[in-house]
Amino acid sequence: MRLRDKRALVTGGSRGLGRALCRTFAAEGARVAFTYSGEDPAAADAKSFRVSVLDTEGTERMVRELEEAWGGIDILVNNAGILQHLPLALLEEADWDRVMDVNVKGAFLTSRAVLRGMIRRRSGAILNIGSRAGVKMSEAPIHYCASKAAVVGLTQSLAKEVARYGIRVNCLAPGVLEDGVGRGLPAHRLADYLKYCSLGRLGTLEETARLAAFLVSDANSYMTGETVLMDGGV
Ligand SMILES: NC(=O)c1ccc[n+]([C@@H]2O[C@H](COP(=O)([O-])OP(=O)(O)OC[C@H]3O[C@@H](n4cnc5c(N)ncnc54)[C@H](OP(=O)(O)O)[C@@H]3O)[C@@H](O)[C@H]2O)c1
Repeated sequence: MRLRDKRALVTGGSRGLGRALCRTFAAEGARVAFTYSGEDPAAADAKSFRVSVLDTEGTERMVRELEEAWGGIDILVNNAGILQHLPLALLEEADWDRVMDVNVKGAFLTSRAVLRGMIRRRSGAILNIGSRAGVKMSEAPIHYCASKAAVVGLTQSLAKEVARYGIRVNCLAPGVLEDGVGRGLPAHRLADYLKYCSLGRLGTLEETARLAAFLVSDANSYMTGETVLMDGGV
């Protein structure tokens, strides 16, 4: 029960890694709410909000609602993210903008909304979900890699700015996972990844969520501004 009595908001929690984060955090004792943006009736429940990370007003409203219901938010995971498997020649300007917007601007807008309360309460933990593709040379689309590298910069700079309020900001950068955005990976890329991965397999959503739960917990009290790579040793 590492997250007993914690109140956590996870963006993009309707499936993939976000859903695993919600389940693991709840199993560790946290109250959990999550967002999603698409048509997903299965995602609609009492703790979910259909609000895009790019909807500034909707995000602020949701944060106010949650703070009224819970009295505050202790943990934010900026997990919502998108990936398109496109080579440079086929990349439209609109594709670039969409990926940069959801993956980077979304984390900025949600963090800004949640941080006001965290700063007032002088405590909190934010975890940004980055990617190995933002840290190491990877055969992945340039807009995705650029967006995930930006998440590393955002993590460092935000961590510096809010450390004085007792708030920690870190980034978890997974390699290829068994589900989620890794699904559409071309076969040759998957084979290549597995060939160079020391552990010889893809990461699971659950093991990623377990590490995330530790990173946002009070047990991880002296780490901030850090990006933790979790890729089975590629
Ligand atoms: N899976 C991997 O191999 C892997 C590896 C490294 C990093 N990551 C990162 O892990 C994070 C989660 O990815 P995933 O693999 O779990 O992907 P996924 O299965 O496609 O899930 C993405 C989640 O984000 C939500 N989402 C997408 N756009 C959104 C928006 N504008 N506003 C709010 N929610 C939005 C989706 O719901 P809606 O579509 O309904 O909005 C869904 O709940 C991403 O940041 C991804 O880059 C994944």
